[in-house]
Amino acid sequence: MCGIFGYVSSKEEALGPILIAAAERLTYRGYDSVGAATMNNGKVDLRKDTGKVDAVAAKYNIAEMRGQRGITQLRWATFGEPSQVNSQPHLDSTGDMVGAHNGNVVNNVELRLEFIAEGMTVRSQNDGETCVHAVERYINRGYEFIDAIRLAYGDLQGDYAFVIGRANDDKLYAFKKGSGMVIGIGEGFTCLSSDLPSILPLTRNVIRPQDGEIVTLWADRVEVRSVKDGKQIIRMPETVTESMDAVQKGGYPHFMLKEIHEQAQVARELIHLLDGSPDVQPLVEKMKNARHLYLIGCGTSYHAASVGSVYIAQLAGRAAIPVLAPQFIAQYAPAVGYEDVGIFVSQSGETKDVLNALEAAEKRGMACFGLANVVGSTLTKATSFCLPLCCGYEISVPATKTFTNQVVTFLYLAYRMAGRNTRDLELIPELMNQTLEMVAPQIESIAKDINEWNDMYCLGYGATYAIALEGALKLKEITYAHCEGMLSTEFKHGPLSAVSKGFPIIFCAGSNDVPLIISGINEVKVRGARTIVIGEEDARLRANGDDLVVIPKSDAQISALLGVLPLQLLSYHMSVMRGFDPDFPRNLSKTLTVD
Ligand code: AGP
Repeated sequence: MCGIFGYVSSKEEALGPILIAAAERLTYRGYDSVGAATMNNGKVDLRKDTGKVDAVAAKYNIAEMRGQRGITQLRWATFGEPSQVNSQPHLDSTGDMVGAHNGNVVNNVELRLEFIAEGMTVRSQNDGETCVHAVERYINRGYEFIDAIRLAYGDLQGDYAFVIGRANDDKLYAFKKGSGMVIGIGEGFTCLSSDLPSILPLTRNVIRPQDGEIVTLWADRVEVRSVKDGKQIIRMPETVTESMDAVQKGGYPHFMLKEIHEQAQVARELIHLLDGSPDVQPLVEKMKNARHLYLIGCGTSYHAASVGSVYIAQLAGRAAIPVLAPQFIAQYAPAVGYEDVGIFVSQSGETKDVLNALEAAEKRGMACFGLANVVGSTLTKATSFCLPLCCGYEISVPATKTFTNQVVTFLYLAYRMAGRNTRDLELIPELMNQTLEMVAPQIESIAKDINEWNDMYCLGYGATYAIALEGALKLKEITYAHCEGMLSTEFKHGPLSAVSKGFPIIFCAGSNDVPLIISGINEVKVRGARTIVIGEEDARLRANGDDLVVIPKSDAQISALLGVLPLQLLSYHMSVMRGFDPDFPRNLSKTLTVD
């Protein structure tokens, strides 16, 4: 997710310990590299590398760094692999300016080429460096610093927050677009951060700037100006009262609930990133021209691959084979060759089962690509290229936002394979927020009603089949109840015998499959089942199901994706009602690096 922190003091002092402590407080966001820069009397001191905060701080003696202003950054790689040169902060061509960002600048690749053509020294692939050169460009054209920053804001597309300072100055400057940023005002200093936790131990007096505003920080005051016309905006400081733990969880009682509510934001960032990614079109061409196309993963990532295979068939008219990674080795690896394409899907990028399948595929010469959240993980290094899921750190063991962004990626690829306009997908984030709002109270009351049951089913068809599998996995994972996910039409072929009075059965109803789902509902209802239907408003579903959990109207593919949100909430509430910690379910770990 990356995190930035900046500090402005009234005098030159030992800033190293302040920067290290602030970086430590940002670590919960996830990172692979750390850096710090101090500025004083015309000099910039910059130290950075990949690794943990304590290791990088010890290796570069960050504790001894002094200055009047300082910046620290934790990097979660998206553009460019984790490396010393890609670590942040970054210098401009001459070393006069230093800056760092969090988030993604989606026109990074184009801007880098422009800056190189304009004669600037571009040292890394990282978009944080691009932000610095975006300001440098206008300084080179003779603009004042604040105006250069305003113009740079207009050139940088994406969702990010950015801080920059100059060697010969006494201020820091910052702005944000789509990402969070908080300003702290203390006694004899001001500071800024991507979020509250790294500020709270220093001060509880904060200002929250909005998109399109530039903040100038002096040691004793803060000025907010509009990017558009440079006019000053009055923002009064507020006093924060929440505890540190509550703040890290964004005010939510668990990381899982926070991550469920982050889904719209990370989907928005992902779509922007895919729009700007030079890797998408070559991947789409490979997928279209493959003899056989395999989508390979485990657990939740396999479910995303399964939803993706339905999208690719429905939209692009191409068969894509979703397969559990170990089964790929047993069933398909002996038959694959260089004409085939495999997309390996993994949140962590470290799942041993997935890496084993990758090794087997590569031995046969198959073209291998990845989708992973952790850039710099083994999967991202071992595949020809790997699209980032752009979710930041997912702390809770049950995958939520990484699942939806995997599904969004497949939907995006299916659109591109079909030559459709991906603009339509920009509706997804808003529809996700609407879904959460619409279903929340009803899901909590259904959770109460069915919580006594330790056995249940979750059924779907077409694109909602794997959504049902995913809902069932979430329920098993954090409630410890048995919940089986199944194709709705299969239920009559055996499991029907399990139905007794009140037995909970959840139906994920795709908008094109309502008559089929209604047959399924009636089959079990007449035998006493309690039927919970997740679908769009539909008089037929309302008349037949016991509960209809209504999700917003959209097309069949987006609707299937939205259907997973009530299932995530249901499993969350049932887990909490049972007295379990949904973030850390027993016996499970977030990354499975064993066979
Ligand atoms: C999801 O909630 C689970 N934690 C689990 O099924 C997970 O998806 C699986 O272990 C695969 O992990 P990966 O995506 O990191 O490869």
